Amino acid sequence: MTMNWEALYSERLGSMTTSVIREILKVAQSPEVISLSGGWPEADLFPTEQLQEVAAHVMRETPREALQYGLTDGSIGLRQLLAEQMQAQGVPAGPENILITSGSQQALDLLGRILLDEGDCVIVEAPTFLGAVQSFKAYGPRFVPLPLDGDGACVELLPELISRHKPKLMYLLPTFHNPAGVCLSLERRRRAVEIASEMGVPIVEDDPYGQLRYSGEPLPTLAALDSARCSAHGPRLGNTVIYLSTFSKTLTPGLRVAWAVAPVDVVQQLVMAKQGADLMTSSLSQEIAAEFIRRGWLPGQVARIRDTYRLRRDAMCAAIDDFFPSEASYYRPEGGLFLWVTLPEGLDATALLAEAAVHQVAYVPGQPFFVDGRGTNTLRMSFASVPPETIREGVRRVGEVFKAHL
Ligand SMILES: Cc1ncc(COP(=O)(O)O)c(C=O)c1O
Repeated sequence: MTMNWEALYSERLGSMTTSVIREILKVAQSPEVISLSGGWPEADLFPTEQLQEVAAHVMRETPREALQYGLTDGSIGLRQLLAEQMQAQGVPAGPENILITSGSQQALDLLGRILLDEGDCVIVEAPTFLGAVQSFKAYGPRFVPLPLDGDGACVELLPELISRHKPKLMYLLPTFHNPAGVCLSLERRRRAVEIASEMGVPIVEDDPYGQLRYSGEPLPTLAALDSARCSAHGPRLGNTVIYLSTFSKTLTPGLRVAWAVAPVDVVQQLVMAKQGADLMTSSLSQEIAAEFIRRGWLPGQVARIRDTYRLRRDAMCAAIDDFFPSEASYYRPEGGLFLWVTLPEGLDATALLAEAAVHQVAYVPGQPFFVDGRGTNTLRMSFASVPPETIREGVRRVGEVFKAHL
């Protein structure tokens, strides 16, 4: 008998992006197409030679640690280094507050496992990071959208949403949002932490792009503001915000090393969940990341990445100003990898993607990033993995397509 797999899949799976988009984005992989659709970092910026040196060192000096099973929490050396890094950012975490995960993507899944039951409510920004929705979805929650604008999530709406929906958690991307590129303003950051703490709803702060600032003033993380509220009598880690970050955008995603910062009890629950998921994050990757930090190479690497992406961000903004119809609007990102465009009502970015593909250029339509199905007239473009002159040509082609439909 042939197995009917379709009938066996969990009803929770659902489809994340429409097959139409998936089919068109496949076209984007062809070398002739200028792809502004990817979310991958520029591979030319990976510190390949430094990583080769560090990897050789680790294999020579500490092969037994690097190749053996390790603690589920993560290597104590790396957690210590990350705790110091967090402290320098105003988050008084110790190694016991840190869990190393196999990418932040895994942290999202583990948080879903320990916090969500079928039918629980999760507040997410509209738009939000698809990967988070995908991870949480496996645990059967309802999503409640929180709109955002150029200053990030409209947190002033939170008290009403929280009272009405009694959410288990809020998932926020305050710094260089994926997909919207925006930053939550300082005032809204303070308000978000205040509301979360007073109304007893934790915030998961996802911060993969925080180091990638190209202009403007740095802002404190929600985790730092949360800790500041709890530190009247000396430094204390806050207990409202669970903070996530990763080496994927600063070093390389191939290492799969990321970290979560949380109160000790939460870390312990996450450790139990991680035991069931993958036992531990690769020891070899953790040793490499730790040695890279010990050598003091991270700041230089981040500075190099920033310089390249800043030029690309500028190229994309200039090209949009020159080639997009004036009716389209966008947020100028101060960091991160993405830029978010809103077209006039009535234009459908998914339908127009097919036409863009004919002109050998691709972007990502915005609708799938909304949990409420809105956003048909929005799109995300990435400036990360294409050089400035190619960005300009890509944006010009996209602009032509949009202009033809106005
Ligand atoms: C907002 C956001 N969170 C999490 C991730 C996952 O990162 P990682 O490679 O650490 O799993 C990404 C990756 O693009 C992201 O954009």
